[in-house]
Amino acid sequence: MRYDENFEKLCEALEGPGAFLVVESQGRVNAMTIGWAQAGVIWGQPVMTVLVRPSRYTHRLLEKAKHFSVCVPRRGELKKELAFCGSRSGRDHDKIRACGLKVAEGRDGVKYLEGCGLVYLCEVCGRTELRDGAVAEPALGRYYPDPADLHTLYFGRIISAESSA
Ligand SMILES: Cc1cc2nc3c(=O)[nH]c(=O)nc-3n(C[C@H](O)[C@H](O)[C@H](O)COP(=O)(O)O)c2cc1C
Repeated sequence: MRYDENFEKLCEALEGPGAFLVVESQGRVNAMTIGWAQAGVIWGQPVMTVLVRPSRYTHRLLEKAKHFSVCVPRRGELKKELAFCGSRSGRDHDKIRACGLKVAEGRDGVKYLEGCGLVYLCEVCGRTELRDGAVAEPALGRYYPDPADLHTLYFGRIISAESSA
């Protein structure tokens, strides 16, 4: 599919139970639940941007990763798994295994989770850190009580977007 098809399904998941951000790096594949992401056009190419706090294990992996995938479960599916991957850290658990999820390999060897309705495979093409002063109120006070935990934005060129019913 084109990367901009099914945009409403991506947003419905992000506004609701979340989607999986899957990263392979340092010999590990980890899945973390995300609620914040953007899909659009930057630098003349389709880009998925994900926002990850430095406190996440995923952040450590992304610092060295070449790719990531965003895997969106079908409506109402994998809710327990999303809750688990959004509350436990890959530092302490092999979350994918604990959830009984299966990892598959897509284009360019990018890892993703089987059983999701939408899968975006992305090649990391940039990163930037939110700095002090970058975020206005009320989001600043609401989301950043700890000024050391401002999100890093990772930009991923969307190399493949697939949907399955
Ligand atoms: C619905 C939901 C959405 C979330 N969205 C994000 C997000 O966009 N960015 C982020 O840094 N953490 C987000 N989190 C928190 C992480 O998923 C959580 O801290 C997770 O345990 C980190 O896993 P890791 O240490 O294996 O990377 C979200 C959690 C939930 C439940």
